[in-house]
Amino acid sequence: MKLQGTHQRSITRTADGRGARIMDQRDLPWAISWVELRSAADAERAIREMWTRGAPLIGATAAYGLAMALAEDGSDEALDRAYRFLLASRPTAVNLRWALDKLVETVRPLPAAERAAPAFARADAICDEDVELNRAIGAHGLELFRELHARHPDRPLNILTHCNAGWLATVDYGTATAPMYLAHDAGIPVHVWVDETRPRNQGALLTAFELAGHGVPHTVITDNAGGHLMMTGQVDAVIVGTDRVTANGDVCNKIGTYLKALAAKDNGVPFYVALPYTTFDADTATGADVPIEERSGDEVTHVSGEGGRIRVTASTAANPAFDVTPARLVTGYLTERGLVEKV
Ligand code: MRU
Repeated sequence: MKLQGTHQRSITRTADGRGARIMDQRDLPWAISWVELRSAADAERAIREMWTRGAPLIGATAAYGLAMALAEDGSDEALDRAYRFLLASRPTAVNLRWALDKLVETVRPLPAAERAAPAFARADAICDEDVELNRAIGAHGLELFRELHARHPDRPLNILTHCNAGWLATVDYGTATAPMYLAHDAGIPVHVWVDETRPRNQGALLTAFELAGHGVPHTVITDNAGGHLMMTGQVDAVIVGTDRVTANGDVCNKIGTYLKALAAKDNGVPFYVALPYTTFDADTATGADVPIEERSGDEVTHVSGEGGRIRVTASTAANPAFDVTPARLVTGYLTERGLVEKV
């Protein structure tokens, strides 16, 4: 039986305040279980093995990881070591570096023995801010969805999304999902096409779980279905989250996003990218400069959750986890400050 879930904070401090508590996303949607992270090593492993995931949420997890390292040893050496260790946990989402930099900025001027408490407080503040950013993205997205629905008021607004950019990928609300929730709550008849998002199936396992929990009508589709749905007029807009937007507007996101953007362009379907400022990387010129994570081929040859192996041949499998959608394919960037449309 699939559990229903309503949105909630995906990361909090532990009851004793000395660790972080995360939802273990490996068990979703079959079980809701929480794990306590008690050290930088725990945080690094949870990020690397994707117990927790999504650009803003891995940033928040790393921030708590650094605070935990400082609680053990507040020296400059320990700070630099933990920073490098946590930064290496996953390469693509820039939020990880952003959050770690914020913590370092906070504690560097302080004496070694007095760094841990301000570090935890800064990690808390990163989480609180993420919730507010997503709420603001949602409010601007609601206006966009209202406008899109007004073009065809006689039928539901059909939105297509890829991967999971929901409350499970952020601290709460999500980026791409926040407008879906707010539009649904405002009475706009929104229906979401959810790409299953092979190989980790973040769409089928996580986005569908979220939308079901909130009562948002949705349909899970194979990753190859989107082009056909766009060509036959069944998609009014695509909206995705992102792991990094570079200085020229290129969008790095879950593998397969680029193909959706190409199909959207070819069919005149608007393609929106939802992001908080923490995902914008002004220091990286273009998408070609973003490190694309290469994950294990086992994720391609094995189905997670159900334990089934889908191929038993001797073939090797490749598993690039992200791709780059060139800025020219993006209709607009939905940010906490509003919709930034391309001229
Ligand atoms: O590999 P994942 O599951 O961490 O990838 C997540 C995504 O690609 C999300 O779409 C992105 O991080 C945006 S989350 C608001």
